[in-house]
Amino acid sequence: MNDRIIVFDTTLRDGEQSPGCSMNVEEKIRMARQLERLNVDVIEAGFPVASSGDFEAVRMIAGTIERSSVAGLSRAMAGDIDRTWEAIRSAKKPRIHTFIATSDIHLAHKLRKTRDQVLKDAVLAVEYARSLCVDVEFSCEDASRSDIGFLCEIAQAVIAAGATVLNLPDTVGYAIPAEYGAMFRTIRERVGNIREAVLSAHCHNDLGMAVANSLAAIENGARQVECTVNGIGERAGNAALEEIVLAIKVRAERLGVMTGVDAQEIYRSSRLLSSLTGMQVQRNKAIVGENAFSHEAGIHQDGMLKSAITYEIMTPQSVGIKHSTLVLGKHSGRHALRQRYAELGFELSDVELERAYAGFTAIADKKKEIFDEELIAILDEGVRGSEQDYHLVELHVSTGTSVRPTATVELQTGEERIVDSATGDGPVDAMYRAIERLTGIVGKLTEYSLKSVSIGHDTVGEVFVRVEFDGVQYNGRAVSTDVITGSARAYLEAMNRALNVRRRREGREKETIAFAASVV
Ligand code: KIV
Ligand code: ZN
Repeated sequence: MNDRIIVFDTTLRDGEQSPGCSMNVEEKIRMARQLERLNVDVIEAGFPVASSGDFEAVRMIAGTIERSSVAGLSRAMAGDIDRTWEAIRSAKKPRIHTFIATSDIHLAHKLRKTRDQVLKDAVLAVEYARSLCVDVEFSCEDASRSDIGFLCEIAQAVIAAGATVLNLPDTVGYAIPAEYGAMFRTIRERVGNIREAVLSAHCHNDLGMAVANSLAAIENGARQVECTVNGIGERAGNAALEEIVLAIKVRAERLGVMTGVDAQEIYRSSRLLSSLTGMQVQRNKAIVGENAFSHEAGIHQDGMLKSAITYEIMTPQSVGIKHSTLVLGKHSGRHALRQRYAELGFELSDVELERAYAGFTAIADKKKEIFDEELIAILDEGVRGSEQDYHLVELHVSTGTSVRPTATVELQTGEERIVDSATGDGPVDAMYRAIERLTGIVGKLTEYSLKSVSIGHDTVGEVFVRVEFDGVQYNGRAVSTDVITGSARAYLEAMNRALNVRRRREGREKETIAFAASVV
């Protein structure tokens, strides 16, 4: 059997649709380019029928990506398939991904259709998609809770109709590895034409088993895995790409398969996604978490000093984490900065370098030495999209043990500069109240954290906030040597994200009204 696993990345579709992970078109294109650098085989760019914004993002990605296949998702309906095809047809390697639920639970409560109707819809959808595109993936949504006899029947039928890939998702993260693996084994044993399609696994992490289930599927014949960078996705997320890829690499002798992913690009992809979405990975996250390669316990450190093989099954360098001992300061120029980023694994374009240099000099003015961790944090802040409604211009805060904290904030919005002051329980509270007065936008701060990026009393502080606007949580992050300024910028970032989403939603509502009017 073929030992090459096709890596299907759905960060921009299943990942992006989860709360706190939304990206604008520019950000999605940036991420898609990085996914191509990572050398994934398929990039699922979005769900074109969901909105004109989603459609546009998929269309732009299809026109940008050279090597990876670009897939667009569509329900098993001709209208959806047409819209998806329109979005991806300019891709070098387009793929239509169509799906319908197959479990009795979904049939009875969601679709209100019989098995026969679902089978018919699935076959018609695949036939129609194949009339447009040579590469068609069909997914049996909620496969892991579907009747195995019905799954075999539908698998046989959609492959006969022309499906090139058959995906069996664990949509609700319910399966356990032996059971999920057995489903693949049974499908291979009972479906006569199964060799005409690639079998694919798509796992959600509700019980924390998405990666284990994906590996069980591979051991039982799956040759495509669907996953996301940092494991982002609906609810508890999807299977994490970096974990699957490294498991396959580190345990190659056991699994006997390989991927084409360039593992050196893993860390960079993870950082880019965190900065674009504001969604940080937990410290102890496998492969890309801050602690993933640090050895704290004395006994472990002793072992590592004697021989790294005692406690290290893979090196940080193997996933693109690089450290350098040189330190940059305020006399370092653009050239040195670009070189250092390159050493750290980040090849910057001229525009990126300018943004990073602006952040670097702002910090270098206040601090003698700038460490690698700080450089990466600066870069992360500089990569966000340009759709910012409010920028911080000036901030003045007075506080003390016997005075009521007061903040005066000046913001730029379009051509206008606006200033106002407020008092609060503390300096951050006062500042957030001033921003609220200025913008008229009320947010509820649900999370606030502050950490130092490196060491020393003059270190750069990283502020992370979660703020609720319109009932939805948005993340914001900023780095600064001044934690109050960082707090203001992080809050404004979350607010700007909310305003972007509000704009997109209003656009979507207008489209829905126009669509409804057109069909009356
Ligand atoms: O989880 C799921 O079932 C999906 C399908 C649409 C592939 O995301
Ligand atoms: Zn999914």
